Amino acid sequence: MALFFTGVAIFVVTLAAVLLYASWDRKRAAGKTEQAMLPPGSTGLPYVGETLQLYSQNPNVFFASRQKRYGEIFKTNLLGCNCVMLGSPEAAHFVLVSQAHLFKPTYPASKEQLIGPNALFFHQGGYHLRLRRLVQRSLGPDALRALVPDVEAAAAATLRAWDGNVTSTFHAMKRLSFDVGVVTIFGRRLDQRLKEELRKNYFVVEKGYNSFPNSLPGSRYQKAIQARKGLRTTLGEVMAERQARDDTEFGLLDTLMQWRDASGEKLTDDQIADNVIGVLFAAQDTTASVLTWILKYLHDDPKLLEAVKEEQMAIYEENEVGKKPLTWTQTRAMPLTHRVILESMRMASIISFTFREAVDDVVYNGFLIPKGWKVMPLFRNIHHSPEIFNDPQMFDPSRFKATPPQPGTFLPFGSGVHACPGNELAKLEMLVLAHRLVTNYRWEVVGPSDEVEYSPFPVPRHGLKARLWSEASGSGTNDDDGAMQGASTTA
Ligand code: HEM
Repeated sequence: MALFFTGVAIFVVTLAAVLLYASWDRKRAAGKTEQAMLPPGSTGLPYVGETLQLYSQNPNVFFASRQKRYGEIFKTNLLGCNCVMLGSPEAAHFVLVSQAHLFKPTYPASKEQLIGPNALFFHQGGYHLRLRRLVQRSLGPDALRALVPDVEAAAAATLRAWDGNVTSTFHAMKRLSFDVGVVTIFGRRLDQRLKEELRKNYFVVEKGYNSFPNSLPGSRYQKAIQARKGLRTTLGEVMAERQARDDTEFGLLDTLMQWRDASGEKLTDDQIADNVIGVLFAAQDTTASVLTWILKYLHDDPKLLEAVKEEQMAIYEENEVGKKPLTWTQTRAMPLTHRVILESMRMASIISFTFREAVDDVVYNGFLIPKGWKVMPLFRNIHHSPEIFNDPQMFDPSRFKATPPQPGTFLPFGSGVHACPGNELAKLEMLVLAHRLVTNYRWEVVGPSDEVEYSPFPVPRHGLKARLWSEASGSGTNDDDGAMQGASTTA
């Protein structure tokens, strides 16, 4: 009996101590929040904030000038929202990784409506994790290994269609990323008619995605809303056809359709459709923009191009001058081309920043981030910081050879729970395209290419107009191959 009472007494004392500590800790945290100040910076004019300043200049200059004035964390107001910008790897890690539960993804309702509210990137917690695992499974190494021939076929078709013509590189690369996206999601068995239906509606949705949301009939946004309904109808048709068969196809769609939880519950058709559209979206302009920059950087540096060509020709010859297909193992053994891809992603930083929203008052480094404020980790500022990357404005792939970047300083695919699950597919596409391009073709940029336009990611002006021709035909106007022979590079 005495033992029983001693046990109860110990339990009561421990419980009281835990409760006291929790209450003290809450008060301490509240005290910290009360003491903390808002970050430095200006929230501009009433209502418009600093929106006009942002849109009247290169956005990178806007962010960089404020970071110079205020430091790694500063506040502003954009489109009526109070925002805190974070320009250091530590701050990005805080928001995206270590305290990710305090910051939720946030997108304008108009964009959520076009993609579909069930798409994983709008969510946190259990639903997000479940969907993310399924997406990761269909983009994992086994899936990618099987996709190499499809990616190579898509790259070959893209270049064949461009051969002999002047076109926007970005548009050509969009064809590639769309075709690769489709095969990754639907496998090889998608009917051509349905693929064309998807393509037609997808591009209308895409146009409306970055337009001003309104209810005017015939406006870009309203056309996009209609096309989104068309996309859903086509996806419904594809899903019904797959359900009627008892064999399965590889790809994200079948992975989503076959998933069951422990109690046999499955995803709804809307959840599947929203995630299919979401992944197609996430895979498209991102990859196409980086590919466009790769072509520009290689074009602008003939020595580097020649060295990449040398690396790729060795593989081409090993494959009996392209008669045998590229293998997964070969794509893992292209070190220089891989470094060119990494450096292109650093330089171009096509996703300059991302958005989150504080779900509570949060204190970072003594500064208060109030609940409901938007938080923006600035990837581009990190990639272009001279304290992190030596001579950051110089395109130098060799920087990835000498010393790999410090953890958390190279974030082209984001970081943490929402980091890009398509990163390896994107890199595979770039490696394969680079192989087919430099072993079979030459290209020259037509017109000025130093200005940048936003579509919505940064790409060279007019998407980099270029003429492409196959080396076998020799029909280009700038055929000075001899001048480039034997060149070397430090990359
Ligand atoms: C060069 C090409 C790409 C770049 C630069 C890129 C970049 C990114 C970044 C920075 C994020 C994180 C955004 C955030 O934290 O708010 C992200 C998320 C995502 N990306 Fe990519 N991406 C690329 C290609 C792809 C591809 C090819 C796919 C799919 C096939 C894909 C699918 C996704 C998805 C589904 C998410 C959301 C993940 C989540 O919320 O858990 N991306 N991407």
